[in-house]
Amino acid sequence: MKAKIKPLPEITWDELQQLTLDDKARCFNRSDRPLHILVAQQFDRPLLQELGDMATRIRQVAKSKQGMDFLGNLLSHKTAMLYFTQPSTRTFLSFHSACQILGMRTVEVRDTSTSSEMKGETQEDSIRTFSSFSDVIIMRSAIGGLAEKMAWMLSHTERPVPIVNAGSGKDQHPTQALLDIYTLQRSFEKRGGIDRKTVVFVGDLARGRTVRSLAYLLTNYERVKQVFIAPPALQIGKDILDHLKASGSEYELASDFEKVIPEADAIYMTRIQDEWDDKTGDSGKVDISKYSFAAEHLKLLQPHAVIMHPLPRRKEIAVEVDHDPRAVYWRQVRNGMWIRVALLAHIFDCSDSIRDYHGS
Ligand code: CP
Repeated sequence: MKAKIKPLPEITWDELQQLTLDDKARCFNRSDRPLHILVAQQFDRPLLQELGDMATRIRQVAKSKQGMDFLGNLLSHKTAMLYFTQPSTRTFLSFHSACQILGMRTVEVRDTSTSSEMKGETQEDSIRTFSSFSDVIIMRSAIGGLAEKMAWMLSHTERPVPIVNAGSGKDQHPTQALLDIYTLQRSFEKRGGIDRKTVVFVGDLARGRTVRSLAYLLTNYERVKQVFIAPPALQIGKDILDHLKASGSEYELASDFEKVIPEADAIYMTRIQDEWDDKTGDSGKVDISKYSFAAEHLKLLQPHAVIMHPLPRRKEIAVEVDHDPRAVYWRQVRNGMWIRVALLAHIFDCSDSIRDYHGS
């Protein structure tokens, strides 16, 4: 029996900070459903399956004009605020497209030099202002934990609209992890699903928030082995390893990428994230050839395995690899739009209408 957790509007900021991530996740939910979307820990296996199935249903409905018209009417009374103060291509555009598919209006701030933050307005006051004009705030920030802070702050106001974390600092990117899980669900649909697969993460794992969120989500599946291959200074954080240990998940820290490729079911490549470097710019000196997927590696890869990347990439996957059917990173981008439509439908409780329209 889990201890009772105070709901977000009743908890103080200091009390919230004392909670484990699992307990925080419960606090961010309302009636066991995610209210705010802040951390990967809010998604259990049944919800991941439900969202994946809904994304597939939605993409089928969207194939016809009639279906698109139906979807476009579902949330035409809602407005989404896109507050992206850190650069983004895919996450911004896929949320924007997802909102359009459901008929939502969108408003946006992408550069604080054009907002009153330039005049010294706090982020708290900015977000409170956005909540006056919108029904959900989707936000990306370079500041770790900012989405959580804003969700807590708004929950103590008259307009506690949901906050969706679209990437916060180096800590989490839960909706990227959702699209990654959706991609894995589809890739292994005919091979027993995600259970018992080996997922190999490569590159900058210390600062890769997509890796951190996905590593958490993979613990929802049975006997998944996670292998982490990174330069020593950029290896996965101890907090993630502690979580894997506590959840009984198998993991390995490795250094020889070529040796690991043949045992992988999925290889998750990442870019060296030198935007987080301090002035010394140390990560620019890493020899990334040891953490890159070259065309010659394709012959080491199992026929059913997939190569993933959250993108953007630099040189860690050779462009020649794009033509191989096992390279699924461009599919991930498209999957990201559909899973975000499913997520918005879930937040605004219109999944049943979609199920009824689809007929399954
Ligand atoms: N994967 C991802 O978050 O991409 P963007 O930074 O382009 O949004």
